[in-house]
Amino acid sequence: MGAGNLALVGSGWHPPLFREEARSLLESIEVLHPRIVSSSNSDSAVGRISRASLIDEAIESTSRLWIDEGNISASEIAIHVEEWAQSFLPEGSFAVRARNLGRGVCDLSRREIEAEIGARISGKCRPVDLEEPEFEISVLLAGQDDSSGYWDDTQRNDLILWGLRNSKFAGTYNGTSPTDRPFFKPVTLDPRLARLMVSLSFSCNPPSLIVDPFCGTGGIAIEASLLGLDVLASDLDSRMVEGTKSNLDWAMGSGPYKIERCPADSIHEIWGQVEDCSFVFDPPYGRNAWTSEDGLDVFLGALSSASKMCPGGTVCTMLPSSPDALDGPLSEEVQVMGMGWAMMKERIRETGWSVSMASPVRVHKSLSRLVVLCHPAH
Ligand SMILES: C[S@@+](CC[C@H](N)C(=O)[O-])C[C@H]1O[C@@H](n2cnc3c(N)ncnc32)[C@H](O)[C@@H]1O
Repeated sequence: MGAGNLALVGSGWHPPLFREEARSLLESIEVLHPRIVSSSNSDSAVGRISRASLIDEAIESTSRLWIDEGNISASEIAIHVEEWAQSFLPEGSFAVRARNLGRGVCDLSRREIEAEIGARISGKCRPVDLEEPEFEISVLLAGQDDSSGYWDDTQRNDLILWGLRNSKFAGTYNGTSPTDRPFFKPVTLDPRLARLMVSLSFSCNPPSLIVDPFCGTGGIAIEASLLGLDVLASDLDSRMVEGTKSNLDWAMGSGPYKIERCPADSIHEIWGQVEDCSFVFDPPYGRNAWTSEDGLDVFLGALSSASKMCPGGTVCTMLPSSPDALDGPLSEEVQVMGMGWAMMKERIRETGWSVSMASPVRVHKSLSRLVVLCHPAH
């Protein structure tokens, strides 16, 4: 048992992308379970992850037990938690909340664990209050986790982890529904995906600027502005430019923004050279999505222009890919915009960028999209 760390619990939607998001937002993480990472505890770490897309819960001053083989009972767990509480649970009312991740651990009953721990710790200075406790002890029973439907090679033993739930952490991000915005089109990116792409483009600290050369209805620009980041957005279609402007005014984010009509291969001409910038965008693609090269030149043109605008920047984008991208580890043969993934990476490299991460998300039966992160090729 070791204590003192911060643990982050990922939303069950896409564990690999949860871990990538945590990696982008924090200096270093240790993966304990597909849906749990740990990081050294600091106030700035909690601040940084507090507006992430795929982080469900933050637990502080954690301690843990690995369950290699054999069984453990609720009363044995309660003894460990009581020992931990002597150092880490402040005086005041508390509640114990246990939850299963994946298949849980050793068929343990969450209610039994909550009751056993509560009974051991409660006393005059630490009464149990299930309604409005001052402190919440989170207990995670983290078993094998294969429910997300995304291929994941992270194998870890079962784990029981507990600590103090950070009450300032708002939980998994939902965002506002795009249909509530003044300007809506079906191309609008889901706010959670847009927020995730913005977070993935961080190198621990946020960049000083987010640029979206295909802003559409402003899905990405809104998330960046809500995070307080400066935004430069553009689109070839003047209706999209006006629509993004009205959506950004409506969203009232604290990050300042500029919006222009511009082809994506010329953004370096209208915005000039900048430093420490992230390009976050989902480019247009044709009807046949992953089977055709429709949209390829526009995409590569945008990458070249981005490299001229900020050669040391970061790119986070999303590309249409064949559904077999979801079947296992990402193969070089997966089709992306009309060519194999290996060839696509080469074409990206020719524009000055190198792929550092790619992870597929499911769109529908015959389409997936690759969330792709790039850094300078040099
Ligand atoms: C997939 S949509 C982007 C959706 C956007 N992320 C949102 O949340 O609404 C692609 C956008 O690229 C724009 N576009 C198409 N060709 C372009 C080009 N050559 N230069 C700039 N924008 C272009 C389209 O007008 C469309 O708004």
